[in-house]
Amino acid sequence: MKKIMFVCLGNICRSPMAEYLCRAEAEKRGLAMEITSAGTSGWHDGEYMHCGTADVLDGLGIDSRDFVSKRVKSSDWEEFDYLIVMDDNNLCDMETRFSKNKKLFKITDLLPENSRYDHVPDPWYTGNFKETHDILQQCCEILVTRLQRGEM
Ligand code: 4NP
Repeated sequence: MKKIMFVCLGNICRSPMAEYLCRAEAEKRGLAMEITSAGTSGWHDGEYMHCGTADVLDGLGIDSRDFVSKRVKSSDWEEFDYLIVMDDNNLCDMETRFSKNKKLFKITDLLPENSRYDHVPDPWYTGNFKETHDILQQCCEILVTRLQRGEM
């Protein structure tokens, strides 16, 4: 069973959304996976997710009440098969802290080459939680498919 951690800056907007969308997608398709998320900053440790992310998940009937924001910790590097970040800043922070490795990649790398997204825009700044959802849902579907096919 693959263990995956989604990583963003604050762990209250993008990576929690990826965590719950991916878990729902895996459950829907009957794929056993261990999924969590964390932030590089630790600024919101112990908090619940942003209400914009919670609203998106609520709207999909996904229960996220057990969520607690946390910071990436040193042991995560060994613990997870994949650490999947949202943008180039997250990637740089993680590469600096750990190393460059194929287990660490940007989630939008999963998208087809003609996609207009090379990162997940941060709704903390854009206010557009729907755009973030649409990108993450597409990425999570591709991720689960690739895992299910044994391609990753
Ligand atoms: P996230 O968004 O990295 O997608 O969780 C942010 C959340 C909080 C802050 C920045 C980005 N902040 O500055 O507190």
